[in-house]
Amino acid sequence: MDKIVIEGCHPLKGDVNISGSKNAALPILVSSLLADGWNSYSNVPALNDIQSIKLLLSHLGARVETEGDLIRIDSSGLCNHEAPYELVRKMRASILVLGPLVARLKKARVSLPGGCAIGARPIDLHLKGLERMGATIKLSHGYVDVSADYLQGEEIFFDTPTVTGTENLMMAAVLAKGVTVLHNSAREPEIVALAEVLTKMGADIMGAGSEVITIKGVSVLQPTSVSIIPDRIEAGTFMVASALNKGDITLLGCDPDHLEAVIQKLALTGAKILVDGTRLRVIGTDRIDSVNIKTLPYPGFPTDMQAQFMVLMSVAKGVSMITETIFENRFIHVSELKRMGAHISISGNSARIRGVSSLSGAPVMATDLRASASLILAGLVAHGKTEINRVYHLDRGYEAIEKKFERLGAAIRRVKE
Ligand code: EPU
Repeated sequence: MDKIVIEGCHPLKGDVNISGSKNAALPILVSSLLADGWNSYSNVPALNDIQSIKLLLSHLGARVETEGDLIRIDSSGLCNHEAPYELVRKMRASILVLGPLVARLKKARVSLPGGCAIGARPIDLHLKGLERMGATIKLSHGYVDVSADYLQGEEIFFDTPTVTGTENLMMAAVLAKGVTVLHNSAREPEIVALAEVLTKMGADIMGAGSEVITIKGVSVLQPTSVSIIPDRIEAGTFMVASALNKGDITLLGCDPDHLEAVIQKLALTGAKILVDGTRLRVIGTDRIDSVNIKTLPYPGFPTDMQAQFMVLMSVAKGVSMITETIFENRFIHVSELKRMGAHISISGNSARIRGVSSLSGAPVMATDLRASASLILAGLVAHGKTEINRVYHLDRGYEAIEKKFERLGAAIRRVKE
């Protein structure tokens, strides 16, 4: 398995291109199941999660062609309603095929994703929504079977905002009979991006980006061509890197509107942030101030940026509290950061971080995608050598991250094993 080796404390300066968003691309590629004919998607990041969803779509009968960052998908051959364990276990977002499969084939059989490193991550809200729309749900042998002669539009209330749950039901509702109203929906930019794609395909959707999304079912959708929005979490990760290393990094091709909560917190730590259209420059300063953070659904501070901010707080002046409210087990990076000299104590869903003057490089283990990114950031600011093992998590969600950091001046390399 590959590892990443970093010699820390090199200044980071220059421009970095932000790739297309993983979490926007996944549901959008899946939306190709909703219409016959060739869809075309540009600015798709080259990531293992994208490979996984392409494999799943091919398994279901779609034709998939890739040329650089362009992916074309034709689902006219959609014939298989089963997403097997081997494909779903690699990536939980495979559950996104549930809604489209029931809408198109009247049935779906999808392996239950189960828990993962960051929490139990149930899919009950996806299932309750489909049940309310008239589907029959059966759970057996680790699979969920969902069937419906047709889906009926309904009022659906999410107990808690769920990103992929909102996306799944939106995709189920676009071809349902009548009007579906999703209350307490997730408001992430990825939801808006999916709604825009579905609308281009002929769907009738109002309110995406707000808590109430209204979808009037239509009888048929057309294929479309779209470009994937920039990855706000990749952007946030480079922003923190610059603030950490007294760097001067300019992000190119990002959407600062999607990063408001991160920009505001980072500015409070003392970093200078300059926004100019789709360019965002972050200049790190000598002193990093402590700030408290609580992760929340969008537009609150993203859980996917929590681990990276914890590294920043590890070398800040004073004490900060980071509270994780989205996933119950998203502090797995803490023990690794402590091995690098960070002072962090955990109580329930809060971490108390007392900033230290420096971190020291160490061999560490990556445990999930964002935890892996935080270890890269820690390695970049630490004295000496950091070796990050199990980097396959990183390859799921960051496009060529070590190459991007190398171009910015980091001493970072991938060691193939
Ligand atoms: N939840 C339920 N029941 C459900 C669905 C969700 O209780 O049926 C709970 C979850 O356990 C969690 C909360 O609701 O406590 C929110 O989870 P959500 O469903 O929004 O998460 P998700 O859709 O599985 C997406 C991203 C994650 C990101 C979260 C939160 C994708 C493919 N994944 O996951 O991204 O952390 O939203 O913003 O969009 C990542 O990219 O590293 C990543 C984990």
